[in-house]
Parts: sequence; structure tokens; C-alpha cells
Amino acid sequence: MTTDPTRITSGTASQASAVFTAAGMRTACEDLSEGLADDELCLIAWLGEEVAGAAVGRPDSLAFDDAGREYLYAVLEWLAVLPVHRGLHIGTRLLEAFCELSCSRGARAVHLRMSPSRVTELQGFYEARGFSDAGDGSWSRSCR
Ligand SMILES: CC(C)(COP(=O)(O)OP(=O)(O)OC[C@H]1O[C@@H](n2cnc3c(N)ncnc32)[C@H](O)[C@@H]1OP(=O)(O)O)[C@@H](O)C(=O)NCCC(=O)NCCS
Repeated sequence: MTTDPTRITSGTASQASAVFTAAGMRTACEDLSEGLADDELCLIAWLGEEVAGAAVGRPDSLAFDDAGREYLYAVLEWLAVLPVHRGLHIGTRLLEAFCELSCSRGARAVHLRMSPSRVTELQGFYEARGFSDAGDGSWSRSCR
């Protein structure tokens, strides 16, 4: 029998920053330098006692449709796995955990933005996980 050694828990801005620093994501670290905002969620992937990856986003942002009705959507702001642990499906686990949590809280869809210089590199990863180009510079996956 095989066991999955990865656990996903909620975490802190400093745990996430350690991952984003190792991944060279300076803007993420700057954003988190004063801690998480009230509406931000941080998920940490653990391999044993070691932090292996992090996802930070806003799972239940409020917006209004054309008819003025409220709805919720989620924004995945940052996702990274430590270089040494890539390719073990930890990024996928974090992405799915963030999407599941956001959808269960009532979000219509999960959105993310890729830096224009990284789209070529990353779009395959997100497309294979159900995201498509929303045409406004963001990529999204419906909760339904
Ligand atoms: C993108 C990232 C989070 C993926 O994490 P990961 O744990 O290595 O990814 P997973 O192991 O879950 O995914 C592996 C699968 O995705 C595929 N994959 C990984 N990166 C891919 C890419 N850029 N394009 C297409 N497929 C990709 C792998 O081939 C593998 O496929 P398989 O399951 O069929 O074998 C990680 O590479 C990373 O931290 N990158 C740097 C930070 C970053 O760019 N974050 C995203 C922008 S905020």
C-alpha cells in the first residue's frame, strides 16, 4: 500500500514567504511582508515536517453582475513549490485544495493571472488543470 506523504494545512505569511523566496518570487514576498490580509487565505503543503509549497489567494471576493446582483469569485494570487520538490504533484494538490475551498464557500469561478513573460511556460500546467484564457489577461476555471 502506498501512502501520500503530502499534507495541506492552512499556514502563515512567513511560511509562504519562505517558499516564494526560494522560488524567486520577490513581488509575492513584498506583498506578504506585512502579513496576510483579512480576506487572504494561505495554504501550505508539507512533506513530513518540511514546508514544500504554498498557495495564497482570496477565496471569496465580492463582485456584482450586470444586473447588480452580488456574486463571489476567487483569486489565486501566488502558487509555488520549492524547486527540489517539483514534479511530485504538490503544485496540483495546492491548486485543487484552493479551488475546492473557494468553490465550497460559494465562489463562481477561480481566477489567476500569470506574468506575461511566463505565460508560455505556465499555461500548459494551468490548462491541463481546467483553466482557460478569460480574454482579459486572467485565466479562470468555473466552479460548476
Ligand atoms: C508551477 C508549479 C507550482 C508546479 O508545481 P509542481 O508541484 O512541480 O507541479 P505538479 O507536480 O503538480 O505537476 C506536475 C505535472 O504538471 C506538469 N507541468 C509542470 N509544469 C508544467 C508546465 N509549465 N507546463 C505544462 N505542464 C507542466 C508536469 O509535466 C506534470 O505532469 P504529469 O502529472 O502528467 O506528470 C512549480 O513548477 C513552481 O513552483 N514554479 C515556480 C513558481 C511559479 O511559476 N508559480 C506559478 C505562477 S504564480
